[in-house]
Amino acid sequence: MINFQLNNSPVEVDIDPDTPLLWVVRDHFKLKGSKFGCGMGLCGACTMHLNGEAVRTCTLPISAVQGAVITSIEGLGTPDNLHPLQQAWVEHSVPQCGYCQSGQLMSASALLAKNPNPSDDDIVTAMNGNICRCGTYSKIKSAIKSVSKSGAAAMRNKESMVETFDPATANLKREANS
Ligand code: FES
Ligand code: FES
Repeated sequence: MINFQLNNSPVEVDIDPDTPLLWVVRDHFKLKGSKFGCGMGLCGACTMHLNGEAVRTCTLPISAVQGAVITSIEGLGTPDNLHPLQQAWVEHSVPQCGYCQSGQLMSASALLAKNPNPSDDDIVTAMNGNICRCGTYSKIKSAIKSVSKSGAAAMRNKESMVETFDPATANLKREANS
């Protein structure tokens, strides 16, 4: 019997210990958001969190998660209470076909949990193993930036300013929005 936490609930399974976590989550617990892409740890479609780290679950045997805390995309947010990244994904119209996106979100959320203000290079490095055949990379980067501390601060500054047109000088003025 293997015991672990899945999306904040204690669970146990009696299964071949070599079974990859991805199939346990999808087939045993019927949580289908995490996808099978390559089955070789190369594409990132199956990414979940193991003790907060983004891991490829298609090659992770269930025996390796004994006592661990696992989060799948179903544990990241809910339709009524989206994770900030999920909200940003909507606002930036990130998904195309959508197949890779749960893995992208799990890698991005692990990054921001550790590094709330990542540089462009940090984002590229963290997201490097998540392949998107629809080429949504630039939108993913923009969405992550918008949720990062600097992105959120920039948004707050933008929202707190109003632009007015001064006919005397024919200039746009930016003022604090009271
Ligand atoms: S399906 Fe796991 S990395 Fe591709
Ligand atoms: S959105 Fe289609 S593979 Fe990424």
